[in-house]
Amino acid sequence: MKPKLDLVIFGGTGDLSTRKLLPALFQLHRHQLADRLHRIIATGRATIADEDFRTTVKSNLKKFLPDGAWSDEVWSTFHDRLVYSTIDAGNASDYQALGKRLDPGLAPGRLYYLATLPSLYGQICQQLQAAHLVDEHSAVVLEKPLGHDLASCQQINEQVAQVFREEGTFRIDHYLGKETVQNLLAVRFGNPLFSPMWRNTFVDNVQITVAEDIGVEGRGDYYAKTGALRDMVQNHLLQLLSIVAMEPPVSLRAADIRDEKMKALRALMPITADNARECTVRGRYAAGAVNGEAVKGFLDEAEFENADATETFVAIKAAINNWRWAGVPFYLRTGKRLSRRYSEIVIEYKRQPFSLFANDANELTNKLVIRLQPEESISLHTLNKKPGLTSKLSLQPVELHLTDESRSKADSYDAYERLLLDAINGDQTLFMRRDEVETAWRWIDTVIEAWEQNGTPIKNYNSGTMGPSAATALAAVDGRSWYE
Ligand code: BG6
Repeated sequence: MKPKLDLVIFGGTGDLSTRKLLPALFQLHRHQLADRLHRIIATGRATIADEDFRTTVKSNLKKFLPDGAWSDEVWSTFHDRLVYSTIDAGNASDYQALGKRLDPGLAPGRLYYLATLPSLYGQICQQLQAAHLVDEHSAVVLEKPLGHDLASCQQINEQVAQVFREEGTFRIDHYLGKETVQNLLAVRFGNPLFSPMWRNTFVDNVQITVAEDIGVEGRGDYYAKTGALRDMVQNHLLQLLSIVAMEPPVSLRAADIRDEKMKALRALMPITADNARECTVRGRYAAGAVNGEAVKGFLDEAEFENADATETFVAIKAAINNWRWAGVPFYLRTGKRLSRRYSEIVIEYKRQPFSLFANDANELTNKLVIRLQPEESISLHTLNKKPGLTSKLSLQPVELHLTDESRSKADSYDAYERLLLDAINGDQTLFMRRDEVETAWRWIDTVIEAWEQNGTPIKNYNSGTMGPSAATALAAVDGRSWYE
C-alpha cells in the first residue's frame, strides 16, 4: 500500500472548498475510499481556531452534501482529520507554522491543492520549497484558470515546474471527472460497433454544447475580464473535443491517453481574421426570463470593468485537420443564461445516399447523444418502421439507451470525488498535462487575435433563449442544425 499523505488546501475557506472539495472529501471518507489520506489541512488568511473551523465545515457540509449523505457517525471520524492553518501567501513564517502542523512521519506524502487566485500559484510553490515542505514525492493540484492566454499560462506552469515534477502536477478540469466522459471512452473503445464508424467516412458533424441557465452570479468581476471563450472553451469544451477526436491510445495509461488528446488539439485549424466571422459567434445575454423568472441583462447587473467587451456566449465551427476528421465540422457552443442547463456531445452520422421511404428519411439521421448533465446518459438515435397498417413503409426515430439509468443514479458521484481520489492515488489520466493546456491556449489565442483584428461583434441574445440567432445560422449555412 502507498504511504499515507496529508492534503493541504490553499483557499480552504473559499467557495470551491466549501461547495465542492470538502463535501467530496467527506464522501470519500464515508465510502472508505480515503484510507491513504491522513489529515486535511485547510489554509486561509483569516485566523481561525481548529474547532471553529470544524463547526463551520459541519454546517456547510449539511448544506452542500447531496441528500442522504450526511451522517453524524461519519462526521465524528471525519472531524478528527480536519485542521486549519493561517497562511498569507507571501509570508514565510506562516509556512514554517504550516510545517509544524504537518505530520513529520509523512514527509513523502504531501498533496497541495491550490484553489486560490492562480496569480499566487508561483509564490505559494516557492514558499513551500523555501520552507522545505516539498520533496520529490510531493504533488500539487492546480485549479483553473491557468492563465488568461498562452504566455501567462506558460509563466504559471514554469513557476510550478521549478518546484514540482510534471508527474506530481495535477491540472484540474472538472469536466474530465464527470462519469459520462469516462463512459464515452468505454463506449467508443469497448464496442466494435462504434470504433470503425468513428471517422469522417461515417460521421457528418460533431456538436458539443455546454449550456448554463445561471448568469455570472457573484463572479462578474472575474468573468468580465475572462468571457465565455476563456472560461469554458479553453478548458471544458476543448477537453471534450480532444476526447471525442483522439486516436485510439495504445493503453489506458495516462501518458498514452494524453499523447492522443494532444495530437487532436494540435490538429485544430487556427481561426483567422479571414474566417472568424464565418466560424465564430460571440453573444451577450440581455434581459429575459429563465425558468419562468425575469432576469437582468449582463450589462445591467453591475458595472463590471470591461463588461462591454466580454462575451457570455460563444459558438465556434472548428475543424480538425487530420486523416480521421478532415471535412467534419465540430460545432461548439456554450453560454450563460440560456434556456436550460445541459451539457451534451452529439455525433451525427451521415445521411443515407437516398431515401426509400414515404416520409423523408434524409431528414432523420442516426445520432449518438452523450449527455453529461443534468442527467448522465448515452443514447443511440436510430430509425425503424412507424408501426401500423399504412400502405407505405415510413420511418420513425427510436432511442436506444446505452446506460442503465437506475444503476448510474445509485453509483453517481461528484466529479470532484473522482478527481480528488485520483490525485490522492497519483493517477493523472483525468488531469491535463502541461502541453495540452498550453496547446489549447495557443489555439484560443488565435481566436482572440482574430476577433481583435476583424472586430467580431458581440450580439445580444435574450436570456432564456439558446443564444444569438447567428449561432443557429452557423450550422444552418452548412445545411445542418443544432440538436436541441
Ligand atoms: C467553471 C466555470 O469552470 O465551470 C463557470 O468557471 C461554470 O463559469 C462552471 O459555471 C460550470 O460547471 P458545471 O459543472 O456546473 O457545468
